[in-house]
Amino acid sequence: MPTCRICRGERLNTFLSFGSMPLVNNFLREEQLGTPEHRFPLDVCFCDNCGLVQLGYVVDPEIMFKNYAYLTGASEPLLAHFAALAAEITQRFDVPVGSLVVDVGSNDGTLLQSFQKLGMRVLGVEPAVNISKLAVSRGIETTNDFFSSHVAETISAELGRAKVITAANVLAHVNDPEDFLSGVTSLLDEDGIFVIEVPYLVDLLEKREFDTIYHEHLSYFALRPLMSLFAKFGLGIVRVERISVHGGSLRLYVQKSAHSISPNVSELLKLEERAKLAALETYQKFAEDVSQIKEELRSLLQSLKARGARIVGYGAPAKGNLLLNYCQIGTDILDYIIDTTPFKQGRYTPGTRVPIFPESRFHNAPTDYALLLAWNYTDAILQKEKAYRQAGGKFIVPIPKPRIV
Ligand code: TYD
Repeated sequence: MPTCRICRGERLNTFLSFGSMPLVNNFLREEQLGTPEHRFPLDVCFCDNCGLVQLGYVVDPEIMFKNYAYLTGASEPLLAHFAALAAEITQRFDVPVGSLVVDVGSNDGTLLQSFQKLGMRVLGVEPAVNISKLAVSRGIETTNDFFSSHVAETISAELGRAKVITAANVLAHVNDPEDFLSGVTSLLDEDGIFVIEVPYLVDLLEKREFDTIYHEHLSYFALRPLMSLFAKFGLGIVRVERISVHGGSLRLYVQKSAHSISPNVSELLKLEERAKLAALETYQKFAEDVSQIKEELRSLLQSLKARGARIVGYGAPAKGNLLLNYCQIGTDILDYIIDTTPFKQGRYTPGTRVPIFPESRFHNAPTDYALLLAWNYTDAILQKEKAYRQAGGKFIVPIPKPRIV
């Protein structure tokens, strides 16, 4: 019987079941196509006690994160996002040049490169072997491990305490948030600042972002459960912002023994009340909407295909693989998928086995439709693909309701 990963409560209600799904970042090489993939249950639950939305089954993190396909630096808009974040933190909190900045889940070192340019001492902590090597080759010192209270102690023994700790899109992946925060608390300087970004449950529900639910994302946070979690470690939120990254996230600025609780905390708590996040029915309704999207998207694609349309997938994000598997969209519908991440090119999507190519393939021979799997970059991509659209090419945006643009 699974228990809640925050409050240890035993009443977890499963409101949405995707059945058995492959790992969405497990892009396949050609020689793997003959072998069946591992599949794992993907059920989403609501904790009756503390309200945390979470997965009921946890895949071994070693399997998911030791060799990782996701590269922060492969998405142009994220580069700008992280450059702005580094500048924002150092200015707002007057971080002196030479301070230690530790980024947890540092990926290819994109965020730390920006801090380094601002004169900070930087250290990344990244579990993926392939990606931490890449970061090191770019001049970003990186500890190749999962962040934990133990790793935090080793770092502070060697380098001292950190003035800034960042964790962008990491906490939702962590199976033991208490040990994680205990590590943050021991590593953070008394007047240091901890900045985290987590996808926001309100955005997920409002925009029906069901495809962001997959094995790597163990928790789906709202502010209320986060606040009680932080309070256990004497951490207080000094500022909170809603940001557009990953379909809508919260950015929280957190400090030790923070007295001044940000005024917009109470506004967001009210918003969460209006969104009825404490009621199981909210999630049951969401599950009905998700099944409706599947039906609509499938029938739209099938009718286009029946009329002879040529369709590709645009972007091969992890979430796209959840969407393709759940909606059962494969090479019967999509000729191929394009993606800017070199690692993904030449590989095949997990489960659905659609081949992935660089963008040039699409630009050289545009198709009639492109299913926008990287919908979180809709604006940037529509802008980038102006020529395709002017020539009559159309995008299909799958959520919150399938539509042709
Ligand atoms: P992203 O949405 O950041 O993440 P996740 O894997 O967590 O769902 O992934 C976006 C993917 O889209 C990434 O593989 C890069 C790709 N991409 C393109 O192919 N073209 C583009 O113009 C952009 C912005 C992204």
